[in-house]
Amino acid sequence: MCGIVGYVGGQPALDVVLSGLKRLEYRGYDSAGVAVQTPDGPLATEKRAGKLANLEKALAENPLPGGTVGIGHTRWATHGGPTDANAHPHTDNATEVAVVHNGIIENFAALRAELAERGHVLKSETDTEVVAHLLADEVRELGGDTVDLAEAMRRVCRRLDGAFTLVATHAGAPGVVVGARRNSPLVVGRGAGEYFLASDVAAFIAHTREAIELGQDQVVELSRDGVTVTDFLGRPADVREYHVDWDASAAEKGGYDYFMLKEIAEQPRAVADTLLGRIDGEGRLTLDEVRIDDQVLREVDKVVIVACGTAYHAGLIAKYAIEHWTRIPCEVEVASEFRYRDPIMDQQTLVIAISQSGETMDTLMALRHAREQGAKVLAICNTNGSTIPRESDAVLYTHAGPEVAVASTKAFLTQLVACYLVALYLGQVRGTKWGDEIFEVIRQLADAPKQVEQVLETMEPVRELARSLADASAVLFLGRHVGFPVALEGALKLKELAYMHAEGFAAGELKHGPIALIEQDLPVVVVVPSPRGRSVLHDKIVSNIQEIRARGAKTIVVAEEGDEAVVPYADHLVRIPVTPTLLQPLVATVPLQVFACELATAKGHEVDQPRNLAKSVTVE
Ligand code: F6R
Repeated sequence: MCGIVGYVGGQPALDVVLSGLKRLEYRGYDSAGVAVQTPDGPLATEKRAGKLANLEKALAENPLPGGTVGIGHTRWATHGGPTDANAHPHTDNATEVAVVHNGIIENFAALRAELAERGHVLKSETDTEVVAHLLADEVRELGGDTVDLAEAMRRVCRRLDGAFTLVATHAGAPGVVVGARRNSPLVVGRGAGEYFLASDVAAFIAHTREAIELGQDQVVELSRDGVTVTDFLGRPADVREYHVDWDASAAEKGGYDYFMLKEIAEQPRAVADTLLGRIDGEGRLTLDEVRIDDQVLREVDKVVIVACGTAYHAGLIAKYAIEHWTRIPCEVEVASEFRYRDPIMDQQTLVIAISQSGETMDTLMALRHAREQGAKVLAICNTNGSTIPRESDAVLYTHAGPEVAVASTKAFLTQLVACYLVALYLGQVRGTKWGDEIFEVIRQLADAPKQVEQVLETMEPVRELARSLADASAVLFLGRHVGFPVALEGALKLKELAYMHAEGFAAGELKHGPIALIEQDLPVVVVVPSPRGRSVLHDKIVSNIQEIRARGAKTIVVAEEGDEAVVPYADHLVRIPVTPTLLQPLVATVPLQVFACELATAKGHEVDQPRNLAKSVTVE
């Protein structure tokens, strides 16, 4: 997830673009760059790794020539680490065209090879750079007296797979900026004689509140004369114009009151992005970034997962998938405990370190210890170029985009997706799963974004329930199988946000002690496994619900659509879509996030920054 700005108008473009990027820095801040059309000259560009402040410093030391047309980018790295060379804009070899991009171009490797064959020299590791070169070629091929950058963009977009927002400018098309979007946001701001393009309205709200929403697969051309929008084939397209009435800080949060709400809402997109580009032309799972030799993976005889907090809960769920699909024994351990018990590892141990930030010290120390023992370490991480992936043998990035709220939500769901992918990949290289079985799970995973969306659309009763429980003294969470880590995660969210006593239990453990906690009207959330497949699990948990209800608990039952057996025992029923048992956490976790967020808000807590916590815990 990156931030993009484009400007055409009468003001100094650099000022407009930089102030827009500042408002978009929440979308990513590992590098930033700008390109400006100079009067009668080539494009002037500057880019720097690190926060926007680094770019501003570079521009202060070496000012660019002035101009009133420009583009800019603040990056959250996906392909290629956060370096100066990988920062956007990217240009063709003659620096005639500059382009910025948000998203993932899935077929970039094939395009890159084709460009290299035609003599193009690509200087970065990014997927984006191919677009600059393709645009330059298309402009040349179109010929003519004037550069038709919009038509060149349409031609290029027709060749791209994946998700992308692109914004480009060309030295031979003075006064013009062109944008394109597929599965990634881009809005137009319409001022008086000036136009803006941005990933969201926060970038231009200081200049105009009149916006145009671009649709899927559309190309937009901005000049001071106006805005032209077409589809990728050049046919005029319908667009929606609207007035933005948010203030600037609400705009950064996409109109949500908190980043956490926004991040919960972004989960369908985040899950879809993490799945992007993982299947090759022959239907085989390909995990590009995983650079551990398949032979090494074939010889693995034990998997150990290390992580903290929410990431640890993702690891607990991963264990079920890894053992079921690969038959390799899998241990999951809280990273802070791991090295102190002298764990047994050798060259045949695969350690998976899961971390959103990539900077958690406990996880880092655990992976260092594992590598010292000769184990191979695979990081599952959301932050490109952070310490944990850098110190690991391999990495699989989740593409959740920056998570700003302290409580982890979209990172968790994407960690689950990444864990499922790793488990399937191990099954593929070791031959414990057939190709068609893997493909079937991938197909089921591809339904997840839609199913998460469905859950999000039905959350009002959950919010209402959460508000009604603001004065409860405690909430318990129960689950079985993969529902047990979901229960732990639900309890963690409530603890950290609502500062309430909340515990997650394996439902079967209840009778061994915790059932003594049940008293009249104690809210107990029960995550119910699907009645299909492992019906024995389902039947057991229905009995557990009856046991707690008989002792006065107020039961809040999370169960899949069509599960009628739970209805008589549910004081509150939360429906989730039908999913295969192992994938249920992707949908079952979402109501628990919403519940915790709403309950904490009802208590008047600051949900984005709960007390005593920090987003990135860099101490042991
Ligand atoms: C809970 C939460 C934390 C983190 C934990 C690990 O909502 O966010 O429990 O999951 O501190 O952080 P990362 O994933 O950055 O290693």
